[in-house]
Amino acid sequence: MATMLRTSTSSSTSTSASRVLGIRSFATKSDRAAAPLALAQRLSGKHFIGGLRPAKSGAVFDVHNPATGETIGHAALGDEADINDAVTLASRAQKEWREQSVRARGALVAKCGEVLRAHVEELAQLTSLETGKAIRTESRVEAGLISDTFSFFGGLAPEIKGQTIPFNPSVLTYTSREPVGVVGAIIPWNAPLLLFALKLAPALVAGNAVVLKSAEAAPFGVLRVTELLNQVLPSGLVSTVSGYGKQAGTPLVRHPLVKKVTFTGSVDTGREIYKQAAEKLIPVTLELGGKSPMIVLEDANFEKAVNGAILSMRFTRQGQSCTAASRIYVHEAIHDKFVAALTEKINALKAPFPLPLSFVETLLTERMGDPLDEATDIGTVISKPQLDKIQRYIALGKGEQGATAHECSALPTDASLSKGLYVRPVVFTGISNQSRVAREEIFGPVTCVFKFNDFDAVLDEANSTEYGLSASVWTNDLQKALHATRKLEAGVVQVNQNAVVQPNLPVGGWKVSGLGREGSLETMLEHFTHSKTVAINFA
Ligand code: NAI
Ligand code: MG
Repeated sequence: MATMLRTSTSSSTSTSASRVLGIRSFATKSDRAAAPLALAQRLSGKHFIGGLRPAKSGAVFDVHNPATGETIGHAALGDEADINDAVTLASRAQKEWREQSVRARGALVAKCGEVLRAHVEELAQLTSLETGKAIRTESRVEAGLISDTFSFFGGLAPEIKGQTIPFNPSVLTYTSREPVGVVGAIIPWNAPLLLFALKLAPALVAGNAVVLKSAEAAPFGVLRVTELLNQVLPSGLVSTVSGYGKQAGTPLVRHPLVKKVTFTGSVDTGREIYKQAAEKLIPVTLELGGKSPMIVLEDANFEKAVNGAILSMRFTRQGQSCTAASRIYVHEAIHDKFVAALTEKINALKAPFPLPLSFVETLLTERMGDPLDEATDIGTVISKPQLDKIQRYIALGKGEQGATAHECSALPTDASLSKGLYVRPVVFTGISNQSRVAREEIFGPVTCVFKFNDFDAVLDEANSTEYGLSASVWTNDLQKALHATRKLEAGVVQVNQNAVVQPNLPVGGWKVSGLGREGSLETMLEHFTHSKTVAINFA
């Protein structure tokens, strides 16, 4: 079956073709992995709590390279004792941090951005090694975005201010914004660096300390980020503990000194965290899943919409994105042409980012391949359980009467990747809007294209989901575009684009897609500070 783990052992086409034409051959797989592997091994068995140190229990768990199945290192298996150490240290550090002037805090956070910028390549390689995301199309882009996030929030520091309120001529009344204390952050593995940065940078600028519980499958990238930030920030202000959800995540949420939790991940875990936070009555931000609609009208710029579908679906990240456009509604007049163009483009995907390779080499590349190879567009999914989950959904869709699975691209042929967690992108047509494939978050490279002819009906259909994270509409008809932006139930609605995360844009979900927002000044103030009202009677 095409979507199963690939087992072919023939040699890589790109390498052999390069040899034939006498052009520069790529570094071998083992060369490329050497530096990030050494880094993963140096970080093995460690949390960062005031410095790199092992779990109190001494226990560890394996971390794999999803492209080869090899163990790349062992992460420290955190539990309540490690969390308690990190939170206690954070609480102490936060008391001093909050007393620094806001501009001094902002300057240090912006400095973190500079340090991270100097380590983009290293972080990108480590991220590709542990997550299987392609370095050129994904990991390097993500590693670049995080330094930008720190620079942006660092610059916002002086905007942490309140208001004066007219009350009584002899009473001066104003609000001020104060830090909440220690923030507990819990993240998933799909974009670990970015999701950490979007929580950490605003929390720090606002005067808080942060303890991160990293994702089981991707502990090293964020651990290295934590180590780098600790070159700049006061000791103890930012700690990272690795481990499992129940063993390390739950004690973080429950710790009495943790005054705010910010989480990205699945809906079920979000609900669990919300319940635990309710016991303590602390605020939470929850960035949960999505099943995001993309609506393409008859008059849309066709080429732009097809490219938009590829970017929106994050095919280069194997669809492992909460905002993935996994339900694409296309007007019947252009539906068949759209599906043909979409599948053709996925088959010959050229990444939308500048390529450091020569044109000839680009033509010879295989799109799915070694995540650390510059020539690769699409890497692997994160883990065997995720691969199994995706394949179950693909099988379900294939079994549906009237459905067609357009399987795109080709699995890599390099023997060293034969154990890699690769899955071919699938575009379903003819599937029911009521099917599980069309309603549940797959978190893989699987999208459904539906045909429509009634604009109002398609807006209702787009909204007929429990999710409400992101939506887009593609048209040049201004009236229809505005109508859609009013009707669509989602935290982010875009017209003729589906852009990536920017630190100045508030992003978050309606319905089960979450609570609260990330990104932007307002979000920092709302989610990482308390408002205090002060009234001074001088009569
Ligand atoms: P998950 O929600 O279980 O894990 C995310 C993070 O929460 C991890 O760090 C995990 O250790 C932690 N965690 C798990 N249980 C916890 C608990 N009881 N208390 C505190 N922390 C806990 O997501 P998982 O298992 O990695 O992925 C499962 C599915 O979730 C995916 O297939 C996808 O559909 C969805 N997902 C959505 C994401 C998004 O960005 N919205 C990101 C990752 C997964
Ligand atoms: Mg889970």
